[in-house]
Amino acid sequence: MRTSHVSKFYKKTLQERLAILKEFAELNDEEISQLEKYGALDFEMADRMIENVVGTFQLPLGLATNFKINRKEFLIPFALEEPSVVAAASNAAKLSEGFEAKASEPIMIGQIQIVGSQNPEKTAEAIKEKEKELTEKANSVDSVLVKFGGGAKKVEASVMETSRGKMIKVHLLVDVRDAMGANAVNTMCERISPELEKITGGEVRLRIITNLAVYRTVKATSVWKKETLGENAIEKILDAYEFAANDVYRACTHNKGIMNGIDAVVVATGNDFRAVEAGAHAFASITGKYLPLTKYYKNDSGDLVGEIELPLAIGLVGGATRTHPLAKINIKLLGVKTANELSEIIASVGLAQNFAALRALATEGIQKGHMKLHAKNIAIQAGAKENQIDSVADQMSKEGNISVTRAKEIIEGSK
Ligand code: MEV
Repeated sequence: MRTSHVSKFYKKTLQERLAILKEFAELNDEEISQLEKYGALDFEMADRMIENVVGTFQLPLGLATNFKINRKEFLIPFALEEPSVVAAASNAAKLSEGFEAKASEPIMIGQIQIVGSQNPEKTAEAIKEKEKELTEKANSVDSVLVKFGGGAKKVEASVMETSRGKMIKVHLLVDVRDAMGANAVNTMCERISPELEKITGGEVRLRIITNLAVYRTVKATSVWKKETLGENAIEKILDAYEFAANDVYRACTHNKGIMNGIDAVVVATGNDFRAVEAGAHAFASITGKYLPLTKYYKNDSGDLVGEIELPLAIGLVGGATRTHPLAKINIKLLGVKTANELSEIIASVGLAQNFAALRALATEGIQKGHMKLHAKNIAIQAGAKENQIDSVADQMSKEGNISVTRAKEIIEGSK
């Protein structure tokens, strides 16, 4: 009987886990040996990172070229599975006049939910009056963070009317310096909860960071000259931007393109891309309308200016950034010393990625470049040898017939 109830799977050795998997999914020896292939991240390290590990999952790591950010040159590591993204970002960076980026202070917000307070409005006020005591208590959690200028800075409290009665919402604002911040913030929220129960007479329920890091945002901007792009292309890009600014269906895809680049660098540096994704999309709709994360306009010279702003909760200390061997190399490659510097790079990548997508979509269409790369993949799938891949792909692209069947015919025909 096939069952997913495996007792103490986490206590089993790798061989035992693989044996269970083999039987469950009816895997053959070849498939098991694929699972047994490790890259830079070995089993021991992976097994310490998450639970019930049976292997590692690899993604291509590519380098985006041509990036000049805050007058410094960067080769930027992208970890992702999608063709064209690295090439598009590199091209956008090549065409640009460079990027200027600035991160805000790294302030994260911890949320505490309090229910059952007798007089929520009055107690919310009382919480604010105790700000000093509460932040001091929170800061007793992490003396190292405080030593480096971080720590809890502020307490906000407000009342929510809900269908289950009034609740108090406390926001603890914490400067997390070079951490992503979830651990420090969550621990601080838990630490001050008994104090909050005393003040409010209510009961503390949820104590957790919010990924909508509105105080930890990054702005990046770039200029693309009209001599480089052509005035016609600029007009088309502006129309493409207006489409996203006025239609949620388009805005969603517009932002997806931005996240293609952002997530790829977030993953390559061992950061939490789900946190960044959740924050980005919530931020995009913070006005009540889901909007593009970028803006475009013409400057006085008629050049195209692009801007991006989004929250980026990423870190350089803690988590996979410090443990994943490739994340460590990627951080070294970027030469960043602070989380803010890293987020300035990531925001610039998001802008470049979006510019590239809009330019392609508004002019020749996205499929032309994409299909070229796709054709190569199809040629490989059809069994093209190293020296055949380009010619098979070219012929299929010319014919407008990109399929494994056609690739096989071309390979056969050239024998
Ligand atoms: C595809 O991964 C990303 C795009 O759809 C982005 C966009 O439409 O702006 C090309």
